[in-house]
Amino acid sequence: MSTNFSAPKGTFDTLPPDSATFLAIRESMTRTLRLAGYGYIETPIFEDTALFQRGVGESTDVVTKEMYTFTDKGGRSLTLRPELTAGLIRAAIEHNLYAGQLPVKLYSVGPNFRYEQPQAGRYRHFTQVDVEALGLDDPTLDAEVVALGVHAFAAVGITDFSTQLNTLGDRACRPAYRIKLQDFLRGLDLDDETRRRIELNPLRVLDDKRREVAAQVADAPLMVDHLCDDCRAHYDAVREQLAGLGISWTENPRLVRGLDYYTRTTFEYVHHRLGAQASIGGGGRYDGLSARLGGPDVSGIGWAIGIDRTLLALAAEDHVPKETARVVVFVVPLGAAARRRALPLATELRQAGVACDLVFGAKGLKGSMKAADRSGARYAVILGERDIADGVAQLKDLGSGQQRAVPLTDLVTTLKEQLP
Ligand code: HAM
Repeated sequence: MSTNFSAPKGTFDTLPPDSATFLAIRESMTRTLRLAGYGYIETPIFEDTALFQRGVGESTDVVTKEMYTFTDKGGRSLTLRPELTAGLIRAAIEHNLYAGQLPVKLYSVGPNFRYEQPQAGRYRHFTQVDVEALGLDDPTLDAEVVALGVHAFAAVGITDFSTQLNTLGDRACRPAYRIKLQDFLRGLDLDDETRRRIELNPLRVLDDKRREVAAQVADAPLMVDHLCDDCRAHYDAVREQLAGLGISWTENPRLVRGLDYYTRTTFEYVHHRLGAQASIGGGGRYDGLSARLGGPDVSGIGWAIGIDRTLLALAAEDHVPKETARVVVFVVPLGAAARRRALPLATELRQAGVACDLVFGAKGLKGSMKAADRSGARYAVILGERDIADGVAQLKDLGSGQQRAVPLTDLVTTLKEQLP
């Protein structure tokens, strides 16, 4: 009996040549972060379930509905990470990174898992580039982090997006505002589920996209009008610094992020051509997270950018790079003796830094030249029986069609001279 498997619902395979774009995005974005002194950290793909319950927050959709949680053979409850921040902070605490130079500057890249209803741009397995700056609440750091996101998109050629900015207050001013907001919301005509949300996480109600809810909360009190002096000064300083960097933003006093840990500066990068899943990245400051996870009571700020959505944004902007060639040189052996020479020759070229592939299997001249063309190579090195006897190869420029004999002993040097 045969079974046909396919990738699980909400997941997909990234194949060549598209995977080259995926790698290029990862490389360009992380280079932006390395240039600002952020160091790479890799944490496990699964963590204690309690880390996310406490870190991401018990009232979030991510924790209540979307986690891939399982019990391992040792009876531990583990969860595939739905995001990277909680794990990075756990690692910073565990390895005492706060004892060193502050801020602790970290970045990571990798897959995350959320049991969401799949649609374009929303997957159950998706990849984020994540950056975190830990240990200080300097507003200059907020400006650096927000600007790095903008520059990370610029580095891959994305321009048609806006940076939405808000502040969510802190433990000094948020509790009083929360009560005020709850009082307001309780007076509205809302369904039971939304009423429950008022008690659990009233700020999320502000963010409700349904028209009948949005209309009712239009006059709701906003955090930005209820900030304490420290939060106001912090927010003013962040905006001043961003303006000084030439970064433009849109104030969105209703911006509430889907994770519970945010305080003060919060932001989202929203693409203009992506429809429902337009948030290509987002983040913010989180003052209580480290303490909640058992670490020192210090602050941090960071963001995550979705690589999958960045790919969609690139396509929407018509910026998908042209297919890149797999190799530069393709070796075409004709006959048994030549075939024995082909792999050693290709290996020699590879070791000299020239990307090279060769014909495998018994293909004739026509089939072999087709394979060479398909590889995107600029040159074919054709090895005929007589060529080998004469100690030469035919070097064919696949663009112009020009061909000439080159002594086998000079081939590597000749090719290296011709290539940029
Ligand atoms: P988030 O807003 O949940 O934040 O996710 C950040 C980005 O990851 C989103 O803007 C989106 O591009 C991408 N993303 C999220 N869920 C999916 C999905 N199901 N399919 C495809 N892409 C998705 C966080 O994860 C925070 N940890 C960010 C952060 C870091 N805040 C502070 N530091």
